[in-house]
Amino acid sequence: MEDKIKEAKAIIDNASSITVLTGAGISAESGIPTFRGEDGLWRKFRSEELATQEAFQRDPKLVWEWYDWRRGLVKEAMPNPGHYALVNLENEKTNFTLVTQNIDGLHQLTGNRNIIEMHGNLWQIRCTSCGVVEENHDVPLKEIHPKCKNCDALGRPNVVWFGEMIPMSIIDNIKCKNCDALGRPNVVWFGEMIPMPIIDNILIAIDKCQVMLIVGTSGIVEPAASMGLVAKHTGKTVIEVNLETTPNSSHYDISILGKSGEILPMLCSGV
Ligand code: APR
Repeated sequence: MEDKIKEAKAIIDNASSITVLTGAGISAESGIPTFRGEDGLWRKFRSEELATQEAFQRDPKLVWEWYDWRRGLVKEAMPNPGHYALVNLENEKTNFTLVTQNIDGLHQLTGNRNIIEMHGNLWQIRCTSCGVVEENHDVPLKEIHPKCKNCDALGRPNVVWFGEMIPMSIIDNIKCKNCDALGRPNVVWFGEMIPMPIIDNILIAIDKCQVMLIVGTSGIVEPAASMGLVAKHTGKTVIEVNLETTPNSSHYDISILGKSGEILPMLCSGV
């Protein structure tokens, strides 16, 4: 492994233009569950009930409940050395693009700037009618109330604890400030298309780079899963950092198995 790390570091040090693709694995060491790993979200929850437009139309309360819970998880999470290593890399390179499938916002929080979010962002609410996107960092979605003014009984935090239903009054409040329609999480659900301008920008970033670094993604979900192959077929050098091999590992120039929080600092420490 050491030789692979040395080889990969030399390639990264000599490149002036790098495009990075990240997945849930880079946030695993920050305590955010991946999707398909041992404690992965899709082992506990049914994606078709929570992360599709049909699910949202069928039961927006259930979907919001789940995103409210995920926001609570992410709110507690801190970036890890893998995130910081990519900030270091961006500061070192003339040309750097970070394409992420993650909706947790940790790359922004860490300080990366040139970021393309393929699957949306957990901290944004999108209007289901006019499409206006609004930043919202309320966790949970409502305020605490000390004592019942009516009967003086002890009030409890007017928050939704995991496992509790979100009162409709809260769902009704997730409205577009522009046109008053129901808001939805600004994320890309299964069965939904990624907006073409985002795909265009990713393909431009792959075309411009000399090296593509792929970190913490199982390489199963398209179109992200094919981006490394696009880079290979257009003559780029592709380096993968992942806990386990992925379907395309054998096609990449170097595949390093291990934790991104441990390996990326070694690869991105600069000349
Ligand atoms: N360091 C490096 N890699 C890791 C680490 C770690 N600490 N922990 C886990 N991994 C690897 C796993 O081995 C796995 O291959 O990260 C990968 C995570 O894969 P998934 O859980 O499938 O996540 P991801 O590839 O990002 O999923 C893609 O699927 O569910 C949808 O929209 C969702 O963006 C997501 C997309």
